[in-house]
Amino acid sequence: MNPAEIDKILESHEYKKSALIPILQDIQSKNRWLPCETLKYVSEKLDIPLIDVYSLATFYKSFSLKPRGKHVVTACCGTACHVRGGPKVLQEIQNQLNIGVDETTPDKKFTLETVRCLGACALGPLVVIDGKYHGQMNTKKIASTLKKYAKKKK
Ligand code: FES
Repeated sequence: MNPAEIDKILESHEYKKSALIPILQDIQSKNRWLPCETLKYVSEKLDIPLIDVYSLATFYKSFSLKPRGKHVVTACCGTACHVRGGPKVLQEIQNQLNIGVDETTPDKKFTLETVRCLGACALGPLVVIDGKYHGQMNTKKIASTLKKYAKKKK
């Protein structure tokens, strides 16, 4: 992400220090993750110590300081999903993508993450891809669902 793009986001928040969270959210939604140089740039522009920007970015799990793929796959590991077969679904995702949790495929298409509960336990086992809920998941369904996303242009 170049400085001009970051400036545009900072301008839209009027360079307010109090808008640090939405600023980082906007940057991440455009760039998919928060590179260290970007955090430094924001820190300088807003005159907020880098340690504070960094602490905030690492505090919230929704922020990623590592490159993320085009599609973010989030598998629920909460109790309700677990008893309905969540671990098998998670294992199948890892097999299909050939990556572990919190990793990104070498082609940068997919990032795999886990979460404790997505608040929709009745739909378990639940997998969310790019914010879309895919409920009552099983190993066959997840394989075909991932293939569909792999083919997607956007
Ligand atoms: S345990 Fe998976 S949504 Fe609640």
